[in-house]
This record gives sequence, C-alpha cells and structure tokens, in this order.
Amino acid sequence: MKVLGIAGSPRREGNSDTLLAEVLRGASAKGAETETVVLSKLKIKPCQHCDKCLADGCCVIQDDMHGIYKALENADVIILASPIQFMGPTAEMKAMMDRCQAMWARKYILKIPPLSPKKERKGYFISVGGRRIANLFEPSLVMVKTLFRILGVNYTGELLFSGIDGKGDIMKHPDALQQAFAAGQRLVEQDITQ
Ligand SMILES: Cc1cc2nc3c(=O)[nH]c(=O)nc-3n(C[C@H](O)[C@H](O)[C@H](O)COP(=O)(O)O)c2cc1C
Repeated sequence: MKVLGIAGSPRREGNSDTLLAEVLRGASAKGAETETVVLSKLKIKPCQHCDKCLADGCCVIQDDMHGIYKALENADVIILASPIQFMGPTAEMKAMMDRCQAMWARKYILKIPPLSPKKERKGYFISVGGRRIANLFEPSLVMVKTLFRILGVNYTGELLFSGIDGKGDIMKHPDALQQAFAAGQRLVEQDITQ
C-alpha cells in the first residue's frame, strides 16, 4: 500500500510536518510504502483559469504539479497536512488544490475518471491552528472534502489540533503524536469497504 503525505506548511518541521511524519511512521510500521511531498519546495503556479483542461483533462502549465498528479495517481492513501492560515489551508495547499481543476474537468465535463479507477483511494486531513475557536477547521474541512470528492477519493477522517501555535508546540501536547501514529496504522489496516 502506498501512502502519500502532502505537506502544505511553509514552516519546515513545524507542527503539521511533525504530525504528518508521525502518521506516516504509523503507516510504515504496518508495512506501507510512504512518500512525503513538501509543497513549499516545489514550484506550483496557481490555476490560471485558461480552461484548456476542459478539452482534454490535462493542465497545460508545465511545473512541479505534474509530479503531484502522478503521485496522486499512484497513491492508495492521500494525506493532506496543512496548518490553518486566515481560517483556511495555506496558499501552497490551496494552489495545489486549485490545480486539480484538471481532474474536475475530467469528471464533470469529459465524464471520465479523474484518477485511474483501478484502485480505491482513501483521503485523510491533518491540521493545526493557533487559536481555540469552535469553527477553526470548518472552511478547510469543506475544501478538503470537496477536493477528495472530485478526485473520487474516499474521505476517511482527520486529525485536528487547535491552540497549537509556536514551532514545536505539538510536541508539548499530551498525546498528539500517539494519536498521529495510531491514525497512520489505522489508515493502512482499515478495509476501505468498512
Ligand atoms: C499567515 C498566517 C496566518 C494564520 N492564520 C491563522 C488562523 O486564521 N487561525 C489560527 O488559529 N491560526 C492561524 N495561524 C497560526 C498557525 O496555524 C499556527 O502557528 C500553526 O501551528 C502553524 O503550523 P505549522 O508549524 O505546521 O506551520 C496563522 C499563521 C500564519 C503564519
């Protein structure tokens, strides 16, 4: 089983990176092959709304997003990790999501599968935010679930921590890392049909 982690924070080895690494460690402990893609290291231009993808389901912008398209295709489990910035995912994560407009075109305009239907894929979301407010993760959850629905990926859950702000604060949480490790194990163990 291939587990793809997409790290959306511009802060390297920050709170969401730490959680993602721990989820992947849990998945790897159950025998999964894991890969981490760090969006801030890549060049991913925002969608230009040129509508060229409506003709063939492919994005004409030649940049690192094409590596992500391939990685999404090959993954059995896709984990998006992004801290909250201004109540939503980071700009890096949002640019990547918007570039999946090509998949939207495949599904809704061209009526072809957005990703190869040969495998069933699972989706998972990891997030952290500095504030402690009730609806902190709601906008991001709507966006992430929408993306997974468009990709034809089964959304299976999330790991969310509020009140986590300074770099490394997640390490001070009593059981966040254990929760993350266990989530990674579960993602690999769980039968998709359950
Ligand atoms: C530009 C920016 C915007 C932010 N906006 C929010 C916000 O709207 N709500 C919130 O709770 N935290 C916000 N934060 C705080 C981050 O979510 C928090 O520091 C988080 O722990 C960063 O995670 P990371 O270490 O994985 O980057 C913001 C931080 C930055 C830099």
